[in-house]
Amino acid sequence: MTHKITMVDLHGQYQKIKPEIDQAIQEVLDSTAFIKGPQVSQFEKSLSDFHDGAHAITCGNGTDALQIAMMALDFKSGDEVILPVFTYVATAEVIALLGLKPVFVDVKKDSFNIDIDQVEANITPKTVAIVPVHLYGQCAEMEPLLALAERNKLFVIEDYAQAFGAEYTFKDGSVKKAGTMGDIGCTSFFPSKNLGCYGDGGALVTTDKLLAEKISIIANHGQRVKYYHDLIGVNSRLDTLQAAILNVKIKHIKKYEQNRQAVADYYDKALSGLPFLSIPVRSANSTHVFHQYTLQLKGVDRDHFRQYLESHSIPSMVYYPVPLHFQKAYQISGIEKGAFPISEKLSDCVISLPIHTEMDNDQLSYICEKIRDYKA
Ligand SMILES: Cc1ncc(COP(=O)(O)O)c(C=O)c1O
Repeated sequence: MTHKITMVDLHGQYQKIKPEIDQAIQEVLDSTAFIKGPQVSQFEKSLSDFHDGAHAITCGNGTDALQIAMMALDFKSGDEVILPVFTYVATAEVIALLGLKPVFVDVKKDSFNIDIDQVEANITPKTVAIVPVHLYGQCAEMEPLLALAERNKLFVIEDYAQAFGAEYTFKDGSVKKAGTMGDIGCTSFFPSKNLGCYGDGGALVTTDKLLAEKISIIANHGQRVKYYHDLIGVNSRLDTLQAAILNVKIKHIKKYEQNRQAVADYYDKALSGLPFLSIPVRSANSTHVFHQYTLQLKGVDRDHFRQYLESHSIPSMVYYPVPLHFQKAYQISGIEKGAFPISEKLSDCVISLPIHTEMDNDQLSYICEKIRDYKA
């Protein structure tokens, strides 16, 4: 094999666009406009174009994006926000930080995404919002979720940190990008994300102009005019250097997406039918941008399987080993083991394989051959 197998290959990806990236960085260094330089508004314009004209506001990271969204929607202490219990901690963290009450619900076994029936069952007079997380790169079932939210006058904040570029098709044939379907979409440009910068970065998108203005004010200390603070805000800005890098990388996003999908197609073909695992199920309504390629193991000890892969120099990861209701910081009295059986089962049986923009067929055929050879 030509290259060591890694979960992500940011170095290989950088080498291919090095001259463009180096020049973009050098321009920022020469201008020294490190905060709110012109590259930031240029990137916001590209982001808006990418999201079919929705307003795009950048911020410091994806976690801040979620927090700013909830601040902009004026949620008050004690308000309830419904979210999947099988997700990255950031979603619950900001809810707790703002004094809101996280209300966990289970996910669907096949899609890993929020279970709409459970959302409905958990709506109370205190519920203000639902946060679907488009896990691993595929949109949650947004059409019924949006209808449910509308019937109950709830806000929808999409966490699309893992699904940048995914598209959802509605029954009437209309197609919308992840992030643009709810009231606000929040994403992350963490380096390993499908569109990643070289540090922390994040953004919010919304089709509501007034909300967009409020978001950009909150993200910058609540000020519209410097030193005049109309709202309580936060200091959460995308660095100019990161914006310059993202301006280069967003031009390649379609290709990056196709590369990931090609890897997923390869895995699908080579691994389908094996008795000890199931391959990811593709949703009928959403494209999959494969931030992760996640298998469910059946009747196999995951640690044993991971050690076997590791012994053949094949890395793997578990997203996520502990559902939120078992995390020490997020335990809610009355919620016991068995409360969310699907998430509990998934946290025991999921395993993500290497997937990134630079994988080649030699690597893929080697990984799949070793997996096929596995004896439980
Ligand atoms: C689903 C999800 N939500 C939120 C975040 C938070 O993004 P960040 O790490 O940029 O704060 C991440 C990524 O790390 C994520 O995967």
